[in-house]
Amino acid sequence: MQLSRKFQKLFSVDAIESFWEHACRWTHPVNSRRILATLDRSELAKLRDQYPHRPNARKINAYENAAYWIGINVERAQDLRLDRSPPLRILDLGCGAGYFLYVCRFFGHEGLGLDTDEEPLFRGTTELLNVRRVVSRIHPQVSLPELGEKFDLVTAHRVCFHRVARRANGEWNEWAPADWKFFIDDIRTRLLKPNGRLLLDFNPRPNGSSFFTSELRACFLAQGARIFRSKALFAADPNQRPRFRQTRC
Ligand SMILES: C[S@@+](CC[C@H](N)C(=O)[O-])C[C@H]1O[C@@H](n2cnc3c(N)ncnc32)[C@H](O)[C@@H]1O
Repeated sequence: MQLSRKFQKLFSVDAIESFWEHACRWTHPVNSRRILATLDRSELAKLRDQYPHRPNARKINAYENAAYWIGINVERAQDLRLDRSPPLRILDLGCGAGYFLYVCRFFGHEGLGLDTDEEPLFRGTTELLNVRRVVSRIHPQVSLPELGEKFDLVTAHRVCFHRVARRANGEWNEWAPADWKFFIDDIRTRLLKPNGRLLLDFNPRPNGSSFFTSELRACFLAQGARIFRSKALFAADPNQRPRFRQTRC
C-alpha cells in the first residue's frame, strides 16, 4: 500500500471512530476470561466434530472458537453499555451460535434469539449455551412472528436477512428502502417497549466499503437512525434519535 494511502487510512473517519470505541471500552474494562471460564469448550469442540466446516468456509465462521466470539460479543455489549445497565429484555435477530445473548445473560439481561434452523451447529451451540430461540425466517414486507412480549432492545449483528437472492456475478439482491421501512416500523410498533431501541450492525460490502450506500444512509436517517461506523441505532419513537454510548464514555 502506498504511504499516502496508509496515512489516509490511519486518519480516516472510521479509524478515528474505531479509536474512540476502543477508548470507551478501556474506561470500563470487562474480563472476558471470566465469561469464557463458564463455558464447556470441550462440548463446543465436540459439536464442531459432529458438524464439520463446509469446504471453503471463511475463518470467521469458526464458531467453536469461543475465546474469539466471547471477545467480540463482550465488545458489542460494552458498546451498548450492557455491562452496566439495569436488566433488560433483549431480542437478537439472526442470533446464530448464541454468543451475544450468552454474554448478555452474564451481565444480568434476559434474551431471546430468532433464527432459521438451517445450521445444525447453531442448533447445538444455542442448546449448549442455554440460549432460548424462536425458529423463524425473516422475509421482506412480512411481520415478525408474535413473540408474546415486548423488548427493551432488539439487536441484529452481521445482518444477512436482507439478502434476497444471489446474482450470477456473486452480488446479492437486497431489500429495497421500502422493505427496511416496513421492518423498522414493525419492530417499533409490535416488539419494542416505549423506551426500547433497535440496533442493526452490518458487514462491510465485499469490496470493503460501508454497507450504507448513500441511498441506504438516507433511508435509515429518514427513519430516525443514528449511524455510527457499521451500526444503525433506532429509538422506539421515530421522532427520537437515540445515542450510542460512544458519545459519552
Ligand atoms: C452472519 S450470521 C451472524 C450471526 C450472529 N448474529 C453473529 O454476529 O455472530 C447471520 C445469521 O442470520 C441468520 N439469518 C440469515 N437469513 C435469515 C432470515 N431470513 N431470517 C432469520 N435469520 C436469518 C443466519 O442463520 C445466521 O445465524
